[in-house]
Amino acid sequence: MIVCACQNITLDDIVEAVEKLGNDADTIREYTQAGKGCESCLEAACEEVDLPFPYALINAEAIIKQKN
Ligand code: FES
Repeated sequence: MIVCACQNITLDDIVEAVEKLGNDADTIREYTQAGKGCESCLEAACEEVDLPFPYALINAEAIIKQKN
């Protein structure tokens, strides 16, 4: 599931980053490089990607909670 098309970042990449670094959006963006392009994926309403970054962050937290 693509979160950022410009940087080819998937939901799995976001989950992995949140597991390592916590759920601070700026930290996760810096680590994954998500949003370092057209920046459209940073908007929740973006239709260019499967799951825009704000939703990906929320989903990642939920996925990690389910794992633990
Ligand atoms: S889709 Fe993420 S920066 Fe362009």
